Amino acid sequence: MIFAGMDKATAARRIAQLSEELERHNHLYYVEARPQISDQDFDLRMKELERLEAEFPELTSPNSPTKRVGGDLTKAFPTVVHRVPMLSLGNSYSREEVADFVHGIEKEHGRTRFTLELKYDGVAISLIYRNGELVQGITRGDGEKGEDITANVRTVRTIPLRLHGPVPEELEVRGEILMGRRAFERLNTQREQEGEELFANPRNTTAGTLKLQDPKVVAQRGLENFVYFLITDHLPTRSHYGNILQCARWGFRTPDPAKRFIAQADSVEGIMAFINHWDHARHELEFGTDGVVIKVDDLDLQEELGMRAKSPRWAIAYKYPAEQKFTRLNGVEFNVGRTGAITPVALLEPVELAGTVVKRASIHNADQIAKLDLHIGDLVRVEKGGEIIPKITAVDVERREPGALPVAYPALCPACGTPLVRDEGEAQHYCPNEHACPPQIVRRIEHFVSRKAMDIGGLGGETVEALFQAGLVHDVADLYDLRQEQLLALGKGWGERSTQLIIDGIAASKAIPFEQVLFALGIRHVGETVAKKIARAVGGIDRLAAMSVEELTGIGEVGTVIAQSIREFFGVEGNRRIVERLRAAGLNFALDPEKHAPRSEKLKGLSIVVSGVFETFTRDGIKESIEANGGKVSGSISRKTSFVVAGADMGPAKRAKADELGVKVIDENEFRRMLEG
Ligand code: IVH
Repeated sequence: MIFAGMDKATAARRIAQLSEELERHNHLYYVEARPQISDQDFDLRMKELERLEAEFPELTSPNSPTKRVGGDLTKAFPTVVHRVPMLSLGNSYSREEVADFVHGIEKEHGRTRFTLELKYDGVAISLIYRNGELVQGITRGDGEKGEDITANVRTVRTIPLRLHGPVPEELEVRGEILMGRRAFERLNTQREQEGEELFANPRNTTAGTLKLQDPKVVAQRGLENFVYFLITDHLPTRSHYGNILQCARWGFRTPDPAKRFIAQADSVEGIMAFINHWDHARHELEFGTDGVVIKVDDLDLQEELGMRAKSPRWAIAYKYPAEQKFTRLNGVEFNVGRTGAITPVALLEPVELAGTVVKRASIHNADQIAKLDLHIGDLVRVEKGGEIIPKITAVDVERREPGALPVAYPALCPACGTPLVRDEGEAQHYCPNEHACPPQIVRRIEHFVSRKAMDIGGLGGETVEALFQAGLVHDVADLYDLRQEQLLALGKGWGERSTQLIIDGIAASKAIPFEQVLFALGIRHVGETVAKKIARAVGGIDRLAAMSVEELTGIGEVGTVIAQSIREFFGVEGNRRIVERLRAAGLNFALDPEKHAPRSEKLKGLSIVVSGVFETFTRDGIKESIEANGGKVSGSISRKTSFVVAGADMGPAKRAKADELGVKVIDENEFRRMLEG
């Protein structure tokens, strides 16, 4: 090690130097897009800092560049009151409304200058700096109070952890956190491969990401940010534009005037020129924008104009109408997913919309088809809002050709001919023929071999389909009976090397841990995270197969829908047989006892109910520690309940039930003492 025997003072100096350098290069790379060192050099410095911090933990700052890759799990996001409320903006949709806004101000105060910015379609954030150090990142919440998500905010590479140059002792900036289109598509491609539900749009994904408890996951999602508002007692200038430029000098990523992300104008014409420019140009941007924000630039005038109840009088948003166009509906395709769910997809005459050529649109379900009264050949209105996949929002009934056929929802599965079913209260139709419907089988196998599941390299969508077509694989267990000669016999494209890779990959998958095997089984609603939680809670498949819905809902993150789906899965004879064959093939159906030994048996035989939120535990954390100490978590209070661990806001109904049954209620401190004692 480079620093073997390094004394603390030298280490402190080196840590300070490395931190400064890493942050500078981070800024050069992410904010200014002009890197000066190679990725390897950056990584080398990061590794050195990590090692020093491991050696001298007391010298680690919460704003160390190492926190950019994610700190410890966040237990809770405490509520914080905004010192200045986070307002929203009044909206306008036309030149007339913009003119009313401008003229209303001019009438009273004369001609004035406006700063024009894009309206970023992300999630608002408040960032608080003390002595130039980031101390808090808070969500907008209800505008009065938000949630402290500092650990997650630190992972956003364009947010400076330390500011450059002399800065006011206390300052707050506000801005937007966003996810770029490329990062969003990368994430969805990955989710698709893993058989997980796709995210609808970058904004929702950003909001969801910022609420994740694991900053390491947040760090991988590639979030970005723009700053558009400065609050401090010592403002550098009395111009909003001037202050934004100063924010850039301090190290924030602000809208770039050279790219015309920010501009100034003092007339309706000037404002409309900016609006019209971005009406088209915004579709080429990496991040979503749904309008333009027009702000009075002079802060004295801003103060004079003041506020309405929820929005300032000195600013207004202009919102672009959602992009929409009419095009012809050529047909409807009914796709069958891994779980048998049928999704109707509209096949359209290609049309350009919001910068992309649209050929397909989602129609969700049968109700939607009926509501729109869709006919083949109809002129349909396609709309692209924040969503990436466009939707059909209307039909031009007037221009329907006589004799046009209504879109008929199939009664039978388009792939296997089995009558479709629709459960009460559900919008979606399903093909119940899970074991013989070809696309369901193929998709299930694809899911099974995917990276986060059994991770069988060499097998993918096409190869799985080919193996199925060749009659070699009908279910996931068949994979383990495959022999290389069978693959070689498939002919062209199945060479020595690639087939060996497949056979090796299948053999190696036998070492995949139980958590992943459980995910690979593809039980409906059991995603990667839930599978992990369940695996840790139950230890092995036999216990899981025997658990009641009631017991299952006692596991953190398992609700009734998931619990019922698990029951259903094990209720099917065919599924149980596959599990047995996989077990015989040597797959892991229990946790590795070395890695997951219970921490104690202190709660052995106890059935414990958890209710409310806690200060020092997350809900899942408390459930995990019950299970790790031999206890069982149960979803509802009954006579069998040993005790309830209650957080501050345990519901009155639950408390009454506990009292009625004479079940003891303890708080988290007492629970902790129980584990320690
Ligand atoms: S200024 C008091 N500028 O729009 C004015 N907001 O509807 C505070 N937004 O919650 C907002 N881009 O999340 C401002 N350039 C921009 C913006 C912007 C997006 C969002 C922001 C706010 C919402 C208000």
